[in-house]
Amino acid sequence: MSDIKTVGVIGCGLMGAGISQVAAMTGHRTRVLEVNREVLDRGLARIRKFLDDGVAKQKVTPEVREATLANLVPAASFADLADCDVVVEAIIENLDEKRKVYAAIEAVVGEATILCSNTSSLCITELAAATTRPDRFAGLHFFNPVPLMKLVEVIRALTTTDETYQKVAAFGQALGKQVVTAPDRPGFIVNRLLVPYMLDAVRAYENGLGSLEDIDNAMKLGCGHPMGPFTLLDFVGLDTTYYIANIMFDEYKEPQYAAPPLLKRMVLAGRLGRKSGRGFYDYAKA
Ligand code: 3HC
Repeated sequence: MSDIKTVGVIGCGLMGAGISQVAAMTGHRTRVLEVNREVLDRGLARIRKFLDDGVAKQKVTPEVREATLANLVPAASFADLADCDVVVEAIIENLDEKRKVYAAIEAVVGEATILCSNTSSLCITELAAATTRPDRFAGLHFFNPVPLMKLVEVIRALTTTDETYQKVAAFGQALGKQVVTAPDRPGFIVNRLLVPYMLDAVRAYENGLGSLEDIDNAMKLGCGHPMGPFTLLDFVGLDTTYYIANIMFDEYKEPQYAAPPLLKRMVLAGRLGRKSGRGFYDYAKA
């Protein structure tokens, strides 16, 4: 049982919106903060659309949609997060920016409040050390699309206490997710296995293994994956994958984590996947 009632979410982009939606949907009063009202409104509109689509698909009842929206409270400033039991940070992957956000949160919340980061690439122990509560800090890593993906990884910093870990794991379960405990190593569990697989797919494609469509269909239909590696790369974002690969390579210096030349050049060309309209596939045509 989780005793967390009020949740703060910093950042209402793709991941932050998904986390806020899931928190509100599972009955938590959810305070959401963005850099300004316009960006926040875009994130809230994203949540509303997801809920409306869910109602249209008969996956969400109108009552659940209304209850979820009622639980979502736009925050005007950090001061509005003062009563949060846990605050989940889901902002850009930049240590300095995260530091600033943690300082602003810690200036308003109580001693017992737990801080979590949704980072997919930064070191949880380093983030914890950037706060005044390294014992009450943990990684809480969600997967895109957050409302549909059933997993959350809980990552302990070197300093995270057993009590904090138990509370965060119980919170993950209260969000309706299956919790796995992942080590504070680059990639945690999922990206540690997924990123080398996607990098290898790019290398194999560069080496003439097959067409994009054939490789995607092979992995989709031959292994029962929901998406082939290139569809998934476009979905995750080539820049995100490249960034995570570089962090993993920097830590381990093993060739399996080295970004293939084609991936680097596609990122440099701005072909980032679905979000830019073009990656391995062209979405402008769709
Ligand atoms: N509300 C509620 N339910 C919805 C919904 C909505 N708005 N939209 C869709 N659904 C339901 C559907 O009804 C369907 O339910 P069913 O299985 O009971 O029929 C289910 O969700 C799947 O939806 P769709 O049929 O519309 O779409 P797909 O079958 O094409 O699935 C997908 C979409 C879930 C994205 C699937 O393609 C998938 O799982 N892809 C892989 C995604 C993945 O690997 N994500 C992780 C990336 S790694 C990451 O995020 C880590 C980061 O650090 C990089």
